[in-house]
This record gives sequence, structure tokens and C-alpha cells, in this order.
Amino acid sequence: MMYKIAITGKTFPQVIDKLGQSCKIKIWEQDGPIPRQILTEWLADADGLFSTMVPIDDELLSSAPSLRVIAQAAVGFDNINLEACTARSIPVSNTPGVLVEATADLAFGLVLSAARRIPDAAAFVKNGLWNKTTKFPLGVDLYGKTLGIVGMGNIGAAAAKRAQASGMKVIYNNRSRRADDTSLNAAYVSFDCLLAQADFILVLAPLTDATRGLFGSNQFAAMKQTAYFINAARGALVETDALYHALSTGQIAYAALDVTDPEPLPADHPLLSLPNILITPHIGSATTETRLAMAMLAAENLIAGLNRKPLLTCINPSVNYKE
Ligand code: DGY
Repeated sequence: MMYKIAITGKTFPQVIDKLGQSCKIKIWEQDGPIPRQILTEWLADADGLFSTMVPIDDELLSSAPSLRVIAQAAVGFDNINLEACTARSIPVSNTPGVLVEATADLAFGLVLSAARRIPDAAAFVKNGLWNKTTKFPLGVDLYGKTLGIVGMGNIGAAAAKRAQASGMKVIYNNRSRRADDTSLNAAYVSFDCLLAQADFILVLAPLTDATRGLFGSNQFAAMKQTAYFINAARGALVETDALYHALSTGQIAYAALDVTDPEPLPADHPLLSLPNILITPHIGSATTETRLAMAMLAAENLIAGLNRKPLLTCINPSVNYKE
């Protein structure tokens, strides 16, 4: 029996081969997100959905009467109305674990790139300025500085190790204190304490109702004037106007963002006119190995769900299939 599935974005040939053994595939391979109308049409008779972070809400689900599994190739799932999926008994999976090291590399890479102005320095050379002047603005040391991690899950713990290798002290705030924080050599502090003490603030928390807009004008005002703010989680944790104000008035020193709100950021957005910001296009997990591992895990979850077997990494376990 061939299942019908929809894949909302480009993926690896190995993944298509794997899914093609038991599925008839519709895949959106054009640039840009799949138009909602097309996805709605594809879902009319689809058994499974392989999601690349498309918005999934109750209205979309209502056009998918045969849908029995949603496998998302990402760890975050703030694009999905999970309650609506659960109410319709559709199990949903994400891809935890496989992207931890790559995302921690990128998060710490932003810390280091910001501190040492590596992208600015590279642009300085490319723009022919090195011949004209040897003066390039000095960066700051990481050694001896305090990194404050907001959201200390697996990625936070992996980023902490990288920071410690550079001689940084690590403090963190999280929904709850980690039982293993002594072995992580990371001190649990209140959110306010972290804002006041950290030289570098690294955001790795998921986007939920509780974290949306977590960083606004009060929070930027509570940071050191020399603070570096790094967001590698989700753009909507930050009030963009407040960040712009903090950077443009010198309330904080610098920001490095892998995620923005809005995302993608329009080319004429005011943030991009600032000298003290570094922005990358949501590339936390964007390595060949990691993206392949994420897509393969999503494919395995999809195949399990199509066969009414338990999803490996289900995020609404109350409606997961049983053995
Ligand atoms: C994730 O896996 O959540 C990454 O941010 C990609 O969206």
C-alpha cells in the first residue's frame, strides 16, 4: 500500500528514496515557502505531512481529513498548534538531539564573532581598507567574562562547554534548575540577576506563551552597557523595536542574531542600518550532516506514524500510536 504524503520544502535525495519506498510524494521544491492554498489542496487526501516549519493550525488540519501523522524536521514547534493536532488525534514529532552540537557551534560562534568583530574585520579586508589604514576597532576578550544562558536545555549545556573552553564563567536561567548544573559548572541565577551580571547574554529558550517578548525595553535597560546580546532561539522572544532602541542609544554594546522578528528580515529593516549588530539567516542547524540527520529522523517518524506505530520523538504523546 502506498501512502500519500506532502513534503513542504526541499530535502535530501536519500530522504526521498527512503520515503519513496512506501509513499507517493508531493514535494514543494521551489524557492520560498509553499503557498497555503497549494498545501491545503495537497492535504485533501494526504496520510502524512513532512513539515519544514510551515504554519500548522486548525483551519489547515480541517482540510486534511486523512492525516494521521505530522513529522517536522526541526526541534522547535512554535509554528504548530499542538492542541489542535492532539484534539484531532494526530501525533506530531520534532527532531531533538540530532542538532544539539551544530546549533551550539553556531550559538557560540556568534558569541565569538561578535566579541572579536570577525565579520566586520573580514569586510574591512574585502573592501580594500587594510591597505589604507591598519586601524580596525578592537574587540573584547571572552576569557574571564560571564556568559548568561537563558534556556539551558541540551543546546545550552553544549554551548556552555564551548564557552568554558574559552575561559568564560557560565550562569544560566531556565524554567527550572538543572539537577546536573554542578557537573556543568554553571550557576543557576534568577532572570534579573542574569541580566545584571552577564557580559554576554545567550538566548536559547523555546518560543512559548511564557517567553514571547521576554526581552523588551525593561530587560535591555537592566543589562550592562557593555553587554552583548545573542539570540539563537526564536526572533519573537525579543521585542525588535526595544532591541533597536537599546543598540542605537548605546544602552547595550552589540547584538548577534540568528533569528529575527520579523523573519526573514526585510533588506531595508532599521536593524540592518546599525553598526553594532551581526545577523545570520537562521542557520543554527544548517550543516549538511545535521540537516540530513534531522530529515532522516523526520522521515522515520513519518513512516512510523503512517504505519500506526509509535513516533520515535513524539511531542504530543497522549495521541501517539501504541506498539
Ligand atoms: C529548529 O530546529 O527549531 C531550528 O531552529 C530550525 O528551525
